[in-house]
Amino acid sequence: MVSVEARAVSKFFKTTKALDNVSLVVDDGSFFCLLGPSGSGKTTLMRILAGLETPSSGRVYFGGEDVTDLSPSQRNIAMVFQFPSIYPSLNIYENIALALRRETSDPNEIRERVMQVASLLKIEEHLNKKSHQIDFGILQRVSIAKAIVRKANVYIFDEPLSNLDTKLRETLRSEFQKIHSEVRGTFLYVTHDQLEAMAIADKIGILNNGKLLQVGSPDEIYSQPANRFVAYFIGSPTINLIESEVRLVENTVYASVGDGYIPLNNKALKLFQTSREPRKIILGIRPHEISLSREPLHNALPAEVSLIESLGTAQVIELRNGSTVFRCYVDGLSDFKEKEKVYAVFNIEAIYAFDPKTDERVF
Ligand SMILES: Nc1ncnc2c1ncn2[C@@H]1O[C@H](COP(=O)(O)OP(=O)(O)O)[C@@H](O)[C@H]1O
Ligand SMILES: [Mg+2]
Repeated sequence: MVSVEARAVSKFFKTTKALDNVSLVVDDGSFFCLLGPSGSGKTTLMRILAGLETPSSGRVYFGGEDVTDLSPSQRNIAMVFQFPSIYPSLNIYENIALALRRETSDPNEIRERVMQVASLLKIEEHLNKKSHQIDFGILQRVSIAKAIVRKANVYIFDEPLSNLDTKLRETLRSEFQKIHSEVRGTFLYVTHDQLEAMAIADKIGILNNGKLLQVGSPDEIYSQPANRFVAYFIGSPTINLIESEVRLVENTVYASVGDGYIPLNNKALKLFQTSREPRKIILGIRPHEISLSREPLHNALPAEVSLIESLGTAQVIELRNGSTVFRCYVDGLSDFKEKEKVYAVFNIEAIYAFDPKTDERVF
């Protein structure tokens, strides 16, 4: 296993800029998730790191060595794609064993290593079958087995679970950390599913429109989003992003929400205490950080319940003040009713502000 680095990598396809000056370091032996919406450049970046594609500019390093001009096999990469690649004429055992051909011809070692990954991926009972005899979910397990049975420098997984149904995806997702700790390789894992990335990664890189917006631990990405896109892309239900105006009144900073105001904390005061004019921000607050009351609590914002969405053991309640709509998350089943007048209490320590022009986080 090695560290992987992209230095100022850009990629054009004719006039499409698929990657825009991406620089990234993935630590040796870590589990790195590249997360972004469809078309953001994830596959292009992985193909460049793997050596399947050459960058238009920039370099790639493995363990500090420039590998930009080396082929995938010279880089010693193992890859898994969205669709399983299994030879239909060979049985599953032989498919996995074939992946080892370059590394060893010792039949005992081959048997031992195939059985080891078969057990890790729970496919022992399918080893004598051929691909047409097993379903898609098992086939994708076989693809993963074929990749991790090898001793590669880097293991690349490009949306390996995205064609599986939800249950299978959840099961395999939870097995991936175990797979990583057994294989102890450098894992580069691509997904468009934020829950998947949050669940399995040591570090997440967020890509949008070919730009790497932020790299951090799942916790950092969630609690310290660098900009509006990251805040919006991570977290469920989605963060509230509210057009707001901040103003200073008698040494307290207030932010407008609809027709009302809520006070902000000392961080905001430090930033805005010298502003004489109201300043426009995008106020961000996650639905979990708003609670509801029927009493007019101090600093609470009056609002009307406009919609209640049940999640079974919790609710997402949509609220309105003036023309502003926002949502709060309530654990358990409340007895709030649509059209009811309530008071929303914002956790002021959990409020973010984004610059409406640059989308960068101000605090
Ligand atoms: N071989 C190619 N030829 C032309 N355009 C491509 C090619 N591969 C990718 N693109 C374009 O580059 C952008 C990024 O694509 P891709 O890396 O596949 O994104 P993702 O994997 O995040 O969905 C898209 O606009 C896509 O249409
Ligand atoms: Mg892709």
